[in-house]
Amino acid sequence: MSLVRRAVGALIHRAYGAIRRAGAITPAAPAGYRFGRIGDGVSIAFPPGAIFGERYIEIGDHTLIGERVSLSCGMGPGLDLGPDSILRIGGGCSIGRGSHVVAHQSIDVGDDVFTGPYVYITDQNHVYDDPDVPIGRQWPRNSPVSIGSGSWIGAGAIILPGTRLGRQCVVAGGAVVRGEFPDHSVVAGVPAKLVRGYTSELGWHAPGALLAHRARPGGWTEQASAG
Ligand SMILES: CC(C)(COP(=O)(O)OP(=O)(O)OC[C@H]1O[C@@H](n2cnc3c(N)ncnc32)[C@H](O)[C@@H]1OP(=O)(O)O)[C@@H](O)C(=O)NCCC(=O)NCCS
Repeated sequence: MSLVRRAVGALIHRAYGAIRRAGAITPAAPAGYRFGRIGDGVSIAFPPGAIFGERYIEIGDHTLIGERVSLSCGMGPGLDLGPDSILRIGGGCSIGRGSHVVAHQSIDVGDDVFTGPYVYITDQNHVYDDPDVPIGRQWPRNSPVSIGSGSWIGAGAIILPGTRLGRQCVVAGGAVVRGEFPDHSVVAGVPAKLVRGYTSELGWHAPGALLAHRARPGGWTEQASAG
């Protein structure tokens, strides 16, 4: 019995491995999806999440998208959303398994952006302006999102509408991010706040350190060595 079970288990896993390899979405095997652009070397792992509005999606070369990642444009499949792309993911990115990138107006992910698993990125909020109409039935509001090249987004982070992250930013695991952050920001928490920045003067530093450094006569080095 255990021999049979082992054989069946091995067979199932071997077959599932083959299914996953065959089911990956690539430029050579787009699995019926018609992306606005799917670059050379792109692979969307099997099983994918919800993928629709793909003609408004552009994915740059050599980007890897994990399994069960949802990529969507618009409220549902088959809508005419105009002539332009809506969701652009650059080249060399890695989008962690189970993540969702849900676009309605404009989401730009730069090059070489890496995300952990289960990240949620959206450019749309429901609104609750009318206190009597069910919130889900009120017309939602969009605000474009951009994530700078070279950034890294930790597991489970949520990137809300209107977020603009500069280049080489770090988003901590579990952060809920909204607002604008310059290049080389490390943001963490709910709501996410700047916890580290970078300047050539100080390297990586806690917020406030730069102001303190500039305010002190003699600057940081003199203060530190005097202390
Ligand atoms: C953001 C992160 C990279 C920071 O690491 P670090 O550079 O070593 O920085 P520190 O641990 O010194 O943290 C800097 C500050 O942010 C805070 N912080 C770090 N991670 C945080 C988090 N997830 N939530 C809230 N605050 C956080 C720290 O408490 C610290 O605050 P302080 O300045 O008041 O002391 C790391 O904490 C993190 O969240 N990594 C995500 C890991 C992950 O998701 N991996 C998935 C695989 S891709």
